[in-house]
Amino acid sequence: MPVQTVVIKSRDEIALMREAGRLNAEVRAILREAIRPGLTGRELDVLAKAEIARRGAECTFVGYGPGGRPPYPGAICFSVNDELVHGIPGDRPLREGDIVSVDLGVTYRGWVSDAAFTCGVGEVSPEAQELMRVTEASLWAGIEQAQVGKYLGDVSATIGSYGERAGYGIIQEYGGHGVGHEMHEPPHIPNFGRPGVGHRLKAGMVVALEPMFALGKPATEEMADHWTVRMRDGKLSAHFEETIAITDEGPEVLTRIR
Ligand code: MF3
Ligand code: CO
Repeated sequence: MPVQTVVIKSRDEIALMREAGRLNAEVRAILREAIRPGLTGRELDVLAKAEIARRGAECTFVGYGPGGRPPYPGAICFSVNDELVHGIPGDRPLREGDIVSVDLGVTYRGWVSDAAFTCGVGEVSPEAQELMRVTEASLWAGIEQAQVGKYLGDVSATIGSYGERAGYGIIQEYGGHGVGHEMHEPPHIPNFGRPGVGHRLKAGMVVALEPMFALGKPATEEMADHWTVRMRDGKLSAHFEETIAITDEGPEVLTRIR
């Protein structure tokens, strides 16, 4: 294994990443507005590609394919109900009561931003609503922990405590990560853990935090398309993600929708 060093960004570099993050937020807000019964992933993907191009930016996810996987075809991941992450946008229309995770990568002048939300389609069950509420709350609580001098374990443990308290399945195989010129940089950031362990947080670290919780058991499986990850037990899952910069002034959420 090569030594994985966390890349520290300068203030100037963070200023550039802020631009990539702002564009990601603008496009995500447009995508969120478009969610309704009848919409297909493919339609939303076409919209995402157009809005990214209009801003002179690139689709981070298009063509992505590490480790001999088929290149990813979409600008977004579109993961419905028991699909956890990496759902390929397709032709199945959303139905009232579904919940859908939309994940978006935007590259601008060589800098990546990575963020996701889950939302309901029309009216959804109270259980689905609560799952989304708790998953998002864990993200913002995790962000609050991303302070210079704290540890990665503080972030992970805080996120995990939300899932644990609610009795949700806490997904083990996927988590957050560093972001920069590459979408996935070290360190890997689990959504569970112990306070006070792992990397000491430094000013200039830029990371994507992405809690994923499920109403059932945490076990996942990859589908035959080599991308879509779903819950083995077929129960609902939720996923929220923001790209943040850790600064001496505190965490700065680069992808925040305003
Ligand atoms: N946001 C996802 C992650 O952090 C990346 C999507 S994978 C891709 O893992 F293939 F769609 F690019
Ligand atoms: Co990510």
